[in-house]
Amino acid sequence: MSTENTKKQIPESKSAPALPAPLSDLKIKYTKIFINNEWHDSTSGKKFTVYNPATGDKICEVEEGDKEDVDKAVKAARKAFQLGSPWRTMDASERGRLLYKLADLIERDRLLLATMESIDGGKLFSTAYNMDLGGCLRTLRYCAGWADKVQGRTIPMDGNFFTFTRLEPIGVCGQIIPWNFPLVMFVWKIAPALCCGNTVVIKPAEETPLTAIYMGSLIKEAGFPPGVVNIVPGFGSTAGAAISHHMDIDKVSFTGSTQVGKLIKEAAGKSNLKRVTLELGGKSPNIIFADADLDSAVAFAHNGLFYHQGQCCIASSRIFVEEPIYEEFVRRSVEQAKKIVLGDPLSSCVNQGPQINKAQFHKILDLIESGKKEGAKLECGGGPWGDKGYFIQPTVFSNVTDGMRIAKEEIFGPVQQIMKFKTVDEVIERANNTHYGLAAAVFTKDLDKALTFATALQAGTVWVNCYSAVSAQCPFGGFKMSGNGRELGEYGIHEYTEVKTVTIKIPQKNS
Ligand code: NAI
Ligand code: MG
Repeated sequence: MSTENTKKQIPESKSAPALPAPLSDLKIKYTKIFINNEWHDSTSGKKFTVYNPATGDKICEVEEGDKEDVDKAVKAARKAFQLGSPWRTMDASERGRLLYKLADLIERDRLLLATMESIDGGKLFSTAYNMDLGGCLRTLRYCAGWADKVQGRTIPMDGNFFTFTRLEPIGVCGQIIPWNFPLVMFVWKIAPALCCGNTVVIKPAEETPLTAIYMGSLIKEAGFPPGVVNIVPGFGSTAGAAISHHMDIDKVSFTGSTQVGKLIKEAAGKSNLKRVTLELGGKSPNIIFADADLDSAVAFAHNGLFYHQGQCCIASSRIFVEEPIYEEFVRRSVEQAKKIVLGDPLSSCVNQGPQINKAQFHKILDLIESGKKEGAKLECGGGPWGDKGYFIQPTVFSNVTDGMRIAKEEIFGPVQQIMKFKTVDEVIERANNTHYGLAAAVFTKDLDKALTFATALQAGTVWVNCYSAVSAQCPFGGFKMSGNGRELGEYGIHEYTEVKTVTIKIPQKNS
């Protein structure tokens, strides 16, 4: 991409620009570890290769961070957090200004970042440009606005005392993020942490480190003091585990698999009991009543599952449809799935790209096979697509029953499960019969029914007559094994603070 392009101010708009940045011009400039606002080679001398999942081609090599590099990053973050440091003495409003500045720089480089996100993660360019980059900008600006509004209270304590609380930053925050929303997750993690005055050591997923590393250059350009944000690309079992086990990291925030979420909590327990917030997997129920607007329900159910190749934690992967409309719902859903065009995620005619890697590709195909074997009806799709990259045909299963693997396990692929139900009580019980609890939805025109489900469904988010509506103002997170804590909204900001009670003896209290 030419520097001309990156410098151009691109207005935030709903529609994608006609073309992504030309690939011949897309030189990956930043591939190193970012510590103290400087670029570092890995201590071990190792690098790892980053691939384009649409073609299997190598994009570039990136420095591979490990324990020693995490240690260096933590030292830098700790120093930046010391009392009296530029970061600790900065006005809260100034922290907000830096976050606004960072948003402006992302907006300036939006085309380049969206193109990189598409090539690195197989994300449709139009989705990356509009949804991901748009979401990043809104989240950063939302958190920027909070920076000087994170307030404690005065408390009418018993006795002759004056008591107030301070919401202080926790300290050094370790942040580990996945590959499905590389830049969005980067922003969801750093923005609330920085707005509250923490410092950060963040590890992007090994599949998609490029936009995160690029952010290092923008963080420096925005004017954040050295050591406030440190970015260590690397693998989970090495760099990731070094973060979760670290004795000098005060909090870890993780988004990814439930399996690794358990390891993170265990590591916190075995090391320094660092605070832990987790956003993990899901198997979200979407309940469609016969009185719902059918066109709208089919469309939301379709997008709620097939968005980004099904690689979303909130994917509506258990669709319960009331018996009278079951056949028609399945018919229309299959019609929608068959319209999907697969191919190069950079092309504007395409609406499904590749899965992220070979492991995910095989996991999904294995689950599809289990669905066939366990007696679900394969309505369309059901196998791989094309002769390169990790593409999977959009797949719809009907006649799915609750005990099947495809109804229980997170598939993280373009595979839709449609089940039938008869009564309200039955479907509430079946919808909640899972270890997960990230999201849920109900489609009905009956207000009583909608509110019954809003109360009864065990999930961090319940949508009524819509799906996937996520926004910076609204807390997001899971019940049960879908996670601990919340991200975004005021609740998400508070996850990055410690409450300190300060009590002062006074001669006499008056009400
Ligand atoms: P993962 O949980 O292994 O990877 C997510 C992040 O955790 C990456 O940065 C990875 O390097 C890191 N990680 C891995 N092992 C670690 C360890 N021992 N200690 C610390 N960090 C570690 O997820 P993976 O293997 O890429 O995908 C497996 C499944 O997880 C998917 O099929 C999907 O079901 C689920 N998943 C859920 C996501 C969500 O948005 N909640 C995102 C990605 C995956
Ligand atoms: Mg893994």
